[in-house]
Amino acid sequence: MTMRDPNAPEPTAGLGPGRGKRAFIKAYGCQMNVYDAERMGDLLAREGYAAADDAAGADLVILNTCHIRERASQKMYSELGRLRGLKGERAAAGIETRIVVAGCIAQAEGAEVLRRAPGVDLVIGPGSLHRLPALLAGADSRAGGHVETDFPVEDKFTALPAPTPEATRRRGVSAFVTVQEGCDKFCAFCVVPYTRGAEYSRPVAAILAEVIRLTEAGVREVTLIGQNVNAYHGEGPGGGPWSLPRLIAHLAELPNLARIRYTTSHPRDMDEALIKAHGGVPKLMPFLHLPVQSGSDRVLRAMNRGHGADDYRRIVDQVRAARPDIALSSDFIVGFPGESDTDFEDTMRLARDVAFASNFAFKYSPRPGTPAAGREGQVDEAVKSERLGALQTLLEETRQAFNQATLGRDIDVLFEKSARYPGQLSGKSPYLQQVQAQAPLGFIGEVRAVTVMGQERNSLNGRLAGATMTGGAQAA
Ligand code: SAH
Ligand code: SF4
Ligand code: F3S
Repeated sequence: MTMRDPNAPEPTAGLGPGRGKRAFIKAYGCQMNVYDAERMGDLLAREGYAAADDAAGADLVILNTCHIRERASQKMYSELGRLRGLKGERAAAGIETRIVVAGCIAQAEGAEVLRRAPGVDLVIGPGSLHRLPALLAGADSRAGGHVETDFPVEDKFTALPAPTPEATRRRGVSAFVTVQEGCDKFCAFCVVPYTRGAEYSRPVAAILAEVIRLTEAGVREVTLIGQNVNAYHGEGPGGGPWSLPRLIAHLAELPNLARIRYTTSHPRDMDEALIKAHGGVPKLMPFLHLPVQSGSDRVLRAMNRGHGADDYRRIVDQVRAARPDIALSSDFIVGFPGESDTDFEDTMRLARDVAFASNFAFKYSPRPGTPAAGREGQVDEAVKSERLGALQTLLEETRQAFNQATLGRDIDVLFEKSARYPGQLSGKSPYLQQVQAQAPLGFIGEVRAVTVMGQERNSLNGRLAGATMTGGAQAA
């Protein structure tokens, strides 16, 4: 589930400026965690909290954590160590600080978090976040803290308050909307089925209401998110389940919505209707994040992925037949238990053949409680590093080649915000590339044609199509 650096914490948009109690919420991991952090912000805004600029100025600090790889957990514990120090300093000055651990580590480790990080007041799993204010009222680290990791019967999304119009506006031009949560697939390496529970799809009406609210506040692009978003089967207005392509086609009818994206998909749920939507729904952007993990059938079987390398190649061919210019993206794991040099070569071959436009590659990280963690054939750390290096070099080449192919072309950019240099805006191409161009502030929220002039490591430079080199601020 990645279209962003999975280890980079994200400040939340849910809270606004104001007086009174201040909260600082930091999200790690996938977009689902960013979305949940925003919704916790909405909840706290209703309780009178405003946004703190940093943890040092916060009466309440929430870490929305990720458990996907070991490094993510280590980072959380060192952060909690720092926060405990901060809490002590503030207490000496007579100010109380509450510390909450939410997200997937909270779910996976529960009381263990309180044991290892004594300053924590509340440990709350993703299924209970709508109960945050009530639970916070009764939790105190001095009394040993409180742990809540149930998946209650009520729907957390329904129980969450709608954000204020102001909070909705702060989400900017492009927003995430969780449409599906949880996973029933149990890949042998993965904690998600344990931390997020069984697969659940939100009803169409709730999603539609949320997207309409977002577009009314100026959002032009939504990314529908879920751990297995293409397994979406939410209840439709007529009672029966709707598929993801049906939901996308419906949302595409909203006049103010310019762009639709979705992530993360599983190859097993990439059905014909969804593939066809890429050719038939112009608002659906030509970008597909479809993790393959490995190019070796033997490894894919051991991973319990439920598809082979050729199945994946077939899907890629079909998607490209429907939308020839589509940008493909994937996650890879190297050094899964039992992965031989030959298996790894198969992965390299697949990566070369598909020529991904963007990608994420990780070293296998054994996660407690998952089937692969205790298996024989664990791969040596040095071998993992070597394979990761080789794969990343290859993936970087194909990524740069994809970017290079856009040089000189006119592409539509949805402008999102001011860029680094004065007079410059930055936005996204249909292929999710970041693009900078000289453009008036009023273009934020608009889709404009940009001629791509140059390429940086992680973005493209362009100028508004039809604008002169020096002027730059004229629309085409
Ligand atoms: N639902 C998505 C993935 C969610 S986790 C899917 O099925 O594709 C995001 C990514 O983290 C995975 O695609 C995988 O590449 C990586 N990942 C998950 N568990 C991991 C582990 N134990 N070690 C290394 N990488 C892992
Ligand atoms: Fe994890 Fe596999 Fe489920 Fe993706 S499909 S969330 S990798 S168990
Ligand atoms: Fe991490 Fe949980 Fe997302 S483990 S990747 S935050 S679902």
